[in-house]
Amino acid sequence: MTDAGPPPAGMQPDDHVCLCFRVSLRKLVNYMERERPAVASQLSECLGAGTGCQWCVPFLRGLHHQWQSGRAPSLPVAPAVYAAQRRGYRETGERPPESASEAPPAPLPPPEG
Ligand code: FES
Repeated sequence: MTDAGPPPAGMQPDDHVCLCFRVSLRKLVNYMERERPAVASQLSECLGAGTGCQWCVPFLRGLHHQWQSGRAPSLPVAPAVYAAQRRGYRETGERPPESASEAPPAPLPPPEG
């Protein structure tokens, strides 16, 4: 039997960051590498990420900030916790205070069309 180590704590590449549009961390990272967006709001052009309930917007900003800083974009939150926090957000409109610590304040524009 091999020791695979502890289970991963954060999101894996195929986990969805934008749950409304099922946009994975991998798709977002690939988009940033390919399109080199100057601002986080351009991530909305990646399959509509962030243009639904808006839950993921601070996380998109955080990922973009990490990428711009030369770090590997990552979200240190378990997907189940992330999804549960989103459910709460959709019910109450409130975010847990620790849910988006790397998010600089800047809203995404509304979707075009
Ligand atoms: S989770 Fe991304 S817009 Fe709803």
